[in-house]
Amino acid sequence: MEIQEILQSYEKDLKKVEAILDENKRSYVDLIPDISSYIIQSGGKRLRPLLVMIASDLCGYGGERRYSVAAAIEFIHTASLLHDDVIDHADTRRGKRSANRVWGNSASVLVGDYLYSKSFKMIIDDGDPRIQELLSTATVLMVEGETAQLISSGDIAISEDTYLSIIEKKTAILISAACAAGAVLADLPENRSTSLGTFGLCLGKAFQVTDDILDYMAEEKDFGKAMGMDLKEGKITLPLIRALAVCGGEERNRVGKLVRAKELAEAEIREVTSLIGKYGGIEYALEKA
Ligand code: IPE
Ligand code: IPE
Ligand code: MG
Ligand code: MG
Repeated sequence: MEIQEILQSYEKDLKKVEAILDENKRSYVDLIPDISSYIIQSGGKRLRPLLVMIASDLCGYGGERRYSVAAAIEFIHTASLLHDDVIDHADTRRGKRSANRVWGNSASVLVGDYLYSKSFKMIIDDGDPRIQELLSTATVLMVEGETAQLISSGDIAISEDTYLSIIEKKTAILISAACAAGAVLADLPENRSTSLGTFGLCLGKAFQVTDDILDYMAEEKDFGKAMGMDLKEGKITLPLIRALAVCGGEERNRVGKLVRAKELAEAEIREVTSLIGKYGGIEYALEKA
Protein backbone atom coordinates (compact mmCIF):
# COMPACT_ATOMS: atom_id res chain seq x y z
CA MET A 1 0.00 0.00 0.00
CA GLU A 2 1.29 3.46 -0.89
CA ILE A 3 1.49 6.17 1.78
CA GLN A 4 -0.85 8.35 -0.32
CA GLU A 5 -3.57 5.69 -0.11
CA ILE A 6 -3.16 5.47 3.66
CA LEU A 7 -3.39 9.24 3.98
CA GLN A 8 -6.47 9.25 1.77
CA SER A 9 -8.24 6.65 3.88
CA TYR A 10 -7.63 8.81 6.97
CA GLU A 11 -8.51 12.12 5.32
CA LYS A 12 -11.71 12.64 7.33
CA ASP A 13 -10.00 11.77 10.62
CA LEU A 14 -7.05 14.06 9.94
CA LYS A 15 -9.48 16.89 9.12
CA LYS A 16 -10.96 16.49 12.60
CA VAL A 17 -7.48 16.72 14.07
CA GLU A 18 -6.84 19.89 12.02
CA ALA A 19 -10.01 21.44 13.41
CA ILE A 20 -8.83 20.79 16.99
CA LEU A 21 -5.40 22.23 16.21
CA ASP A 22 -7.09 25.29 14.79
CA GLU A 23 -9.37 25.77 17.77
CA ASN A 24 -6.63 25.34 20.35
CA LYS A 25 -4.12 27.77 18.89
CA ARG A 26 -6.49 30.68 19.57
CA SER A 27 -5.42 33.39 21.95
CA TYR A 28 -6.21 37.07 22.40
CA VAL A 29 -2.45 37.69 22.09
CA ASP A 30 -2.26 37.87 18.29
CA LEU A 31 1.33 36.73 18.01
CA ILE A 32 0.37 33.28 19.31
CA PRO A 33 -2.18 32.39 16.60
CA ASP A 34 -0.07 34.23 14.00
CA ILE A 35 3.03 32.10 14.54
CA SER A 36 1.04 28.93 15.28
CA SER A 37 -0.97 29.27 12.06
CA TYR A 38 2.16 30.04 10.10
CA ILE A 39 3.88 26.81 11.10
CA ILE A 40 0.79 24.58 11.33
CA GLN A 41 -0.57 25.65 7.95
CA SER A 42 2.79 25.38 6.20
CA GLY A 43 2.26 21.65 5.89
CA GLY A 44 3.91 18.90 7.80
CA LYS A 45 3.21 15.27 7.17
CA ARG A 46 1.03 14.79 10.28
CA LEU A 47 2.81 11.48 10.77
CA ARG A 48 2.17 11.34 14.51
CA PRO A 49 -1.61 11.98 14.32
CA LEU A 50 -1.79 9.43 11.51
CA LEU A 51 -0.08 6.87 13.74
CA VAL A 52 -2.56 7.55 16.55
CA MET A 53 -5.39 6.79 14.09
CA ILE A 54 -3.81 3.64 12.69
CA ALA A 55 -2.80 2.30 16.11
CA SER A 56 -6.19 3.00 17.68
CA ASP A 57 -7.95 1.33 14.73
CA LEU A 58 -5.68 -1.65 15.12
CA CYS A 59 -6.71 -1.86 18.77
CA GLY A 60 -10.40 -1.43 18.02
CA TYR A 61 -10.92 2.15 19.23
CA GLY A 62 -12.65 4.63 16.92
CA GLY A 63 -14.01 7.14 19.44
CA GLU A 64 -13.67 10.91 19.60
CA ARG A 65 -10.87 11.03 22.17
CA ARG A 66 -8.32 9.96 19.60
CA TYR A 67 -8.64 13.30 17.79
CA SER A 68 -7.75 15.44 20.77
CA VAL A 69 -4.94 13.10 21.82
CA ALA A 70 -3.55 13.19 18.26
CA ALA A 71 -3.82 17.00 18.22
CA ALA A 72 -2.03 17.26 21.57
CA ILE A 73 0.80 15.10 20.20
CA GLU A 74 1.02 17.24 17.05
CA PHE A 75 1.22 20.34 19.28
CA ILE A 76 4.14 18.80 21.19
CA HIS A 77 5.81 18.06 17.85
CA THR A 78 5.14 21.60 16.55
CA ALA A 79 6.48 23.17 19.74
CA SER A 80 9.61 21.04 19.47
CA LEU A 81 10.13 22.24 15.89
CA LEU A 82 9.79 25.90 16.89
CA HIS A 83 12.41 25.40 19.59
CA ASP A 84 14.58 23.15 17.43
CA ASP A 85 14.85 25.78 14.70
CA VAL A 86 16.07 28.30 17.25
CA ILE A 87 18.62 25.81 18.61
CA ASP A 88 19.75 24.80 15.10
CA HIS A 89 19.75 28.37 13.71
CA ALA A 90 17.55 27.08 10.89
CA ASP A 91 16.48 29.33 7.99
CA THR A 92 13.83 27.09 6.47
CA ARG A 93 11.12 24.74 7.70
CA ARG A 94 8.45 23.04 5.62
CA GLY A 95 9.61 24.92 2.53
CA LYS A 96 9.16 28.36 4.09
CA ARG A 97 11.27 30.74 6.15
CA SER A 98 11.40 29.30 9.64
CA ALA A 99 9.42 31.15 12.32
CA ASN A 100 12.63 32.21 14.09
CA ARG A 101 13.72 33.97 10.89
CA VAL A 102 10.38 35.74 10.45
CA TRP A 103 9.63 36.71 14.10
CA GLY A 104 12.94 36.14 15.88
CA ASN A 105 14.10 33.70 18.56
CA SER A 106 12.19 35.12 21.52
CA ALA A 107 8.83 34.88 19.79
CA SER A 108 9.55 31.33 18.60
CA VAL A 109 10.55 30.19 22.09
CA LEU A 110 7.46 31.71 23.67
CA VAL A 111 4.98 30.35 21.15
CA GLY A 112 6.69 26.96 21.46
CA ASP A 113 6.11 27.22 25.21
CA TYR A 114 2.48 28.11 24.56
CA LEU A 115 1.95 25.04 22.37
CA TYR A 116 3.67 22.76 24.90
CA SER A 117 1.52 24.15 27.70
CA LYS A 118 -1.62 23.95 25.60
CA SER A 119 -0.94 20.34 24.72
CA PHE A 120 -0.68 19.51 28.42
CA LYS A 121 -3.93 21.25 29.13
CA MET A 122 -5.55 19.18 26.38
CA ILE A 123 -4.10 15.98 27.84
CA ILE A 124 -5.30 16.90 31.34
CA ASP A 125 -8.76 17.67 29.95
CA ASP A 126 -8.78 14.26 28.27
CA GLY A 127 -8.46 12.91 31.80
CA ASP A 128 -6.73 9.55 31.27
CA PRO A 129 -3.75 9.12 33.63
CA ARG A 130 -2.14 6.57 31.27
CA ILE A 131 -2.11 9.08 28.41
CA GLN A 132 -0.81 11.76 30.80
CA GLU A 133 2.01 9.46 31.91
CA LEU A 134 2.87 8.49 28.32
CA LEU A 135 3.10 12.02 26.98
CA SER A 136 4.71 13.71 29.97
CA THR A 137 7.44 11.04 30.00
CA ALA A 138 7.92 11.43 26.25
CA THR A 139 8.33 15.19 26.56
CA VAL A 140 10.92 14.91 29.34
CA LEU A 141 12.95 12.45 27.24
CA MET A 142 12.71 14.64 24.13
CA VAL A 143 14.29 17.55 25.95
CA GLU A 144 16.98 15.23 27.34
CA GLY A 145 17.70 14.04 23.80
CA GLU A 146 18.03 17.55 22.38
CA THR A 147 20.24 18.54 25.31
CA ALA A 148 22.45 15.46 24.92
CA GLN A 149 22.79 16.33 21.26
CA LEU A 150 23.79 19.88 22.12
CA ILE A 151 26.55 18.57 24.39
CA SER A 152 27.84 16.22 21.66
CA SER A 153 27.86 18.99 19.08
CA GLY A 154 31.12 19.05 17.13
CA ASP A 155 32.40 15.84 18.73
CA ILE A 156 33.78 13.74 15.88
CA ALA A 157 34.42 10.90 18.34
CA ILE A 158 30.69 10.45 18.99
CA SER A 159 29.83 6.75 18.91
CA GLU A 160 27.03 5.15 16.97
CA ASP A 161 25.46 4.09 20.28
CA THR A 162 25.45 7.64 21.62
CA TYR A 163 23.91 8.85 18.35
CA LEU A 164 21.22 6.15 18.51
CA SER A 165 20.42 7.02 22.10
CA ILE A 166 20.06 10.70 21.18
CA ILE A 167 17.72 10.09 18.25
CA GLU A 168 15.70 7.63 20.28
CA LYS A 169 14.99 10.36 22.79
CA LYS A 170 14.69 13.46 20.63
CA THR A 171 12.53 11.90 17.89
CA ALA A 172 11.55 8.25 18.34
CA ILE A 173 9.96 8.55 21.76
CA LEU A 174 7.13 10.82 20.57
CA ILE A 175 6.43 8.57 17.59
CA SER A 176 6.47 5.66 20.02
CA ALA A 177 3.99 7.46 22.29
CA ALA A 178 1.68 8.11 19.32
CA CYS A 179 1.59 4.37 18.60
CA ALA A 180 1.22 3.31 22.24
CA ALA A 181 -1.62 5.82 22.68
CA GLY A 182 -3.73 3.70 20.31
CA ALA A 183 -3.67 0.79 22.74
CA VAL A 184 -4.25 3.02 25.76
CA LEU A 185 -7.26 4.67 24.11
CA ALA A 186 -8.66 1.21 23.46
CA ASP A 187 -8.06 0.41 27.13
CA LEU A 188 -5.98 -2.66 26.28
CA PRO A 189 -3.61 -4.14 28.85
CA GLU A 190 -0.18 -2.65 29.31
CA ASN A 191 1.69 -5.31 27.33
CA ARG A 192 -0.22 -4.19 24.21
CA SER A 193 0.70 -0.53 24.56
CA THR A 194 4.29 -1.56 25.30
CA SER A 195 4.40 -3.61 22.09
CA LEU A 196 3.04 -0.77 20.00
CA GLY A 197 5.44 1.59 21.76
CA THR A 198 8.37 -0.64 20.83
CA PHE A 199 7.23 -0.68 17.22
CA GLY A 200 7.01 3.13 17.28
CA LEU A 201 10.46 3.43 18.80
CA CYS A 202 11.99 1.42 15.94
CA LEU A 203 9.97 3.34 13.36
CA GLY A 204 11.00 6.64 14.95
CA LYS A 205 14.69 5.79 14.92
CA ALA A 206 14.49 4.69 11.28
CA PHE A 207 12.66 7.95 10.56
CA GLN A 208 15.37 10.14 12.12
CA VAL A 209 18.20 8.17 10.47
CA THR A 210 16.43 8.73 7.14
CA ASP A 211 15.99 12.44 7.91
CA ASP A 212 19.72 12.60 8.64
CA ILE A 213 20.50 10.90 5.32
CA LEU A 214 18.22 13.33 3.48
CA ASP A 215 20.08 16.24 5.09
CA TYR A 216 23.03 15.19 2.91
CA MET A 217 21.09 14.18 -0.17
CA ALA A 218 17.78 15.97 -0.66
CA GLU A 219 17.28 19.25 -2.49
CA GLU A 220 15.70 22.04 -0.45
CA LYS A 221 12.81 22.30 -2.92
CA ASP A 222 11.84 18.67 -2.21
CA PHE A 223 12.81 18.40 1.46
CA GLY A 224 11.64 21.80 2.67
CA LYS A 225 14.87 22.22 4.68
CA ALA A 226 18.32 23.33 3.52
CA MET A 227 20.95 20.73 2.59
CA GLY A 228 24.05 20.21 4.73
CA MET A 229 22.52 21.92 7.76
CA ASP A 230 23.54 19.21 10.22
CA LEU A 231 27.20 19.58 9.33
CA LYS A 232 27.01 23.38 9.52
CA GLU A 233 25.58 23.01 13.01
CA GLY A 234 28.31 20.56 14.04
CA LYS A 235 25.75 17.75 14.25
CA ILE A 236 27.53 14.49 13.47
CA THR A 237 24.93 12.04 12.20
CA LEU A 238 25.09 8.39 11.18
CA PRO A 239 26.36 8.72 7.57
CA LEU A 240 29.34 10.73 8.83
CA ILE A 241 29.80 8.66 12.01
CA ARG A 242 30.20 5.63 9.74
CA ALA A 243 32.66 7.38 7.41
CA LEU A 244 34.69 8.61 10.39
CA ALA A 245 34.85 5.07 11.77
CA VAL A 246 36.51 3.71 8.64
CA CYS A 247 38.40 6.63 7.06
CA GLY A 248 42.09 7.45 7.44
CA GLY A 249 43.61 9.66 10.16
CA GLU A 250 44.24 12.60 7.86
CA GLU A 251 40.67 12.57 6.59
CA ARG A 252 39.45 12.43 10.18
CA ASN A 253 41.51 15.46 11.14
CA ARG A 254 40.21 17.33 8.12
CA VAL A 255 36.58 16.62 9.10
CA GLY A 256 37.37 17.71 12.67
CA LYS A 257 38.71 21.01 11.38
CA LEU A 258 35.66 21.58 9.17
CA VAL A 259 33.22 20.73 11.94
CA ARG A 260 34.86 23.26 14.25
CA ALA A 261 34.84 26.02 11.59
CA LYS A 262 32.45 28.93 12.16
CA GLU A 263 31.28 28.98 8.55
CA LEU A 264 31.28 26.23 5.94
CA ALA A 265 31.51 26.92 2.21
CA GLU A 266 29.45 24.83 -0.22
CA ALA A 267 32.69 23.23 -1.46
CA GLU A 268 33.57 22.14 2.06
CA ILE A 269 30.16 20.56 2.56
CA ARG A 270 30.67 18.75 -0.75
CA GLU A 271 34.06 17.59 0.49
CA VAL A 272 32.44 15.91 3.51
CA THR A 273 29.60 14.54 1.37
CA SER A 274 32.11 12.92 -0.97
CA LEU A 275 34.01 11.45 1.98
CA ILE A 276 30.73 9.93 3.15
CA GLY A 277 30.22 8.63 -0.40
CA LYS A 278 33.74 7.17 -0.52
CA TYR A 279 33.17 5.14 2.65
CA GLY A 280 29.56 4.12 1.96
CA GLY A 281 28.11 6.13 4.86
CA ILE A 282 24.75 6.63 3.16
CA GLU A 283 24.33 2.94 2.32
CA TYR A 284 25.35 2.02 5.85
CA ALA A 285 22.79 4.39 7.37
CA LEU A 286 20.06 3.25 4.98
CA GLU A 287 20.75 -0.34 5.90
CA LYS A 288 20.55 0.58 9.57
CA ALA A 289 17.23 2.39 9.02
C1 IPE B 1 10.82 16.72 11.61
O1 IPE B 1 9.75 15.84 11.77
C2 IPE B 1 11.77 16.52 12.71
C3 IPE B 1 12.28 15.16 12.74
C4 IPE B 1 11.98 14.35 13.69
C5 IPE B 1 13.15 14.69 11.69
P1 IPE B 1 8.75 15.58 10.57
O2 IPE B 1 9.53 15.17 9.36
O3 IPE B 1 7.68 14.66 11.01
O4 IPE B 1 8.19 17.03 10.33
P2 IPE B 1 6.89 17.53 9.60
O5 IPE B 1 5.86 17.65 10.68
O6 IPE B 1 6.50 16.54 8.55
O7 IPE B 1 7.28 18.85 9.03
C1 IPE C 1 14.65 16.60 15.14
O1 IPE C 1 15.93 16.99 15.01
C2 IPE C 1 13.88 17.69 15.81
C3 IPE C 1 13.18 17.31 17.00
C4 IPE C 1 13.01 16.11 17.43
C5 IPE C 1 12.62 18.41 17.77
P1 IPE C 1 16.54 17.71 13.74
O2 IPE C 1 17.14 18.99 14.15
O3 IPE C 1 17.43 16.72 13.07
O4 IPE C 1 15.30 17.92 12.81
P2 IPE C 1 15.19 18.89 11.57
O5 IPE C 1 16.16 18.39 10.54
O6 IPE C 1 15.53 20.26 12.05
O7 IPE C 1 13.77 18.75 11.12
MG1 MG D 1 16.80 20.93 13.38
MG1 MG E 1 17.83 19.76 15.99
